[in-house]
Amino acid sequence: MRSKIVAGNWKMNKDVTGSKELANGLVAGLKGKTLNNTRVVVAPTFVNLTAVKEVAEGSVIEVAAQNMHQEKSGAYTGEISAEMLTSIGLKSVVLGHSERREYFGESDALLAEKVNAALANGLEVIFCFGEVLEDRKSGNHFSVVEAQISNALFHLDAAAWGSIVLAYEPVWAIGTGETATAEQAQEMHAFIRKIVADKYDVALAQEVSILYGGSCKPGNAKEIFSKEDVDGGLIGGAALQAEDFIAIIEAIQ
Ligand code: PGA
Repeated sequence: MRSKIVAGNWKMNKDVTGSKELANGLVAGLKGKTLNNTRVVVAPTFVNLTAVKEVAEGSVIEVAAQNMHQEKSGAYTGEISAEMLTSIGLKSVVLGHSERREYFGESDALLAEKVNAALANGLEVIFCFGEVLEDRKSGNHFSVVEAQISNALFHLDAAAWGSIVLAYEPVWAIGTGETATAEQAQEMHAFIRKIVADKYDVALAQEVSILYGGSCKPGNAKEIFSKEDVDGGLIGGAALQAEDFIAIIEAIQ
C-alpha cells in the first residue's frame, strides 16, 4: 500500500534557532500520536539540515533537502551534491519545485539529470511539477503536467519508481491563498496515475504516492486529502507553524 506523506517545505525561512524551535515543536506535538501509514517530512534550508536532523532524531520526522546539484563534486561554487546530502544521513530530496524552475531556470532536462544523480546515490526524490495559470485557463494543464513528468522521469526503469514521490503543485495555488478545489486535485492526480500506469503498469502506478501542494492549510486539508488519488501534501506557508503543520498531519488520518 502506498504511503501517505505530509511534507513541509520551509523554503528560505528560519535561521538555525527558528529551525530548531519549529522542529522541537513538531517533535513534541507528534509524540505519542499514531500516524496511520503516514510519513512526516520536513525540508529546511541546507545550513539547517544537520541541526533539524539532530532534533528529529528518534522521532517520526524525516528530514529532506530542498534541492541539490546534479554533479558529484567539483568547481560549482555555491552548490551541494547528492553525496553531501547522504553523508549527513539524508534520505530524500525535493526536486523540480516551481520556484527552482521559475527563478533558477531549472528545465525538465536538468531535472532529469538531478533525478538520476539523486537516485544513483540512494536518495528518494520528491518530484514537483504543475501548470501555471495561463496553462490552466487555456486548458493545457494536462499536457503541461504530462510533459513535465515524462521529460524528467519516464526514462527511469520501473524499479527506480520505488524511490519517486510525485508532488502536483499548480503554480497558481502556491503561496497565493488560492487552492485547487479537491475535485481539481483529484482530477489531476487521477490523470497522473493514469499516465504512469500507461507508461509502466497499473500496479506500479498504484504504489506511487502523489502529493498535492499549493495553499494547503488546516482548514482545507481534510477535504483535499479525502480524495482517492491524493496521498498527502507538500506544504509551504502552513508548515512554518508547528500547530498548523500538525493539524494538517491530523487531517490525513
Ligand atoms: P504553499 O507552498 O503551501 O505556501 O502554497 C507550497 C509549496 O510551494 O510547496
